[in-house]
Amino acid sequence: MAKALIVFATRSGQTENIADLVAEGIRFTGTDAKVVSATQLTKQEDLEGYDAYVFGSATYHGEMMQAMKTLLFLVAKLDLEGKVGASFGAFGWSGEAPDRIYDTMQNILKMDMIGGPLRLKSATIQGGMQMAQDYGREIGKKISSK
Ligand SMILES: Cc1cc2nc3c(=O)[nH]c(=O)nc-3n(C[C@H](O)[C@H](O)[C@H](O)COP(=O)(O)O)c2cc1C
Repeated sequence: MAKALIVFATRSGQTENIADLVAEGIRFTGTDAKVVSATQLTKQEDLEGYDAYVFGSATYHGEMMQAMKTLLFLVAKLDLEGKVGASFGAFGWSGEAPDRIYDTMQNILKMDMIGGPLRLKSATIQGGMQMAQDYGREIGKKISSK
């Protein structure tokens, strides 16, 4: 069975909620999905062997959280070229983090990216739950089509 790794960086939990919903959407398509906090991933070995990588961070002071920056430096040492990639995150008004993560995955890691990042103000308002699950489905379909 294909496997996706979803890693989140959060302060107050919204981005973790989105991560769980994206994972649900991926599982709907028959792909296994593991959700982990960026603070728990410190070793290269923990990141190896997945078909897709989905990274998310909340935006604070116009930036992604430090744990996600550290994670991206760690994954830059791996060869993820051509693997399916996607990014997401909760935000309040400007929401830079999902875009910055997406750009790094595309330009540095050379991953096969989903159409664009998922930016949500909340997983529970304005159809956020559905959007996060749909984003997961899109990721799952891309994995299956490879
Ligand atoms: C001190 C502080 C700074 C923030 N800075 C930004 C920001 O620059 N841009 C933005 O879009 N949201 C900003 N936010 C809003 C958070 O991104 C938003 O509350 C988000 O839902 C938090 O996600 P989390 O629960 O995953 O930590 C800020 C929130 C706080 C408390």
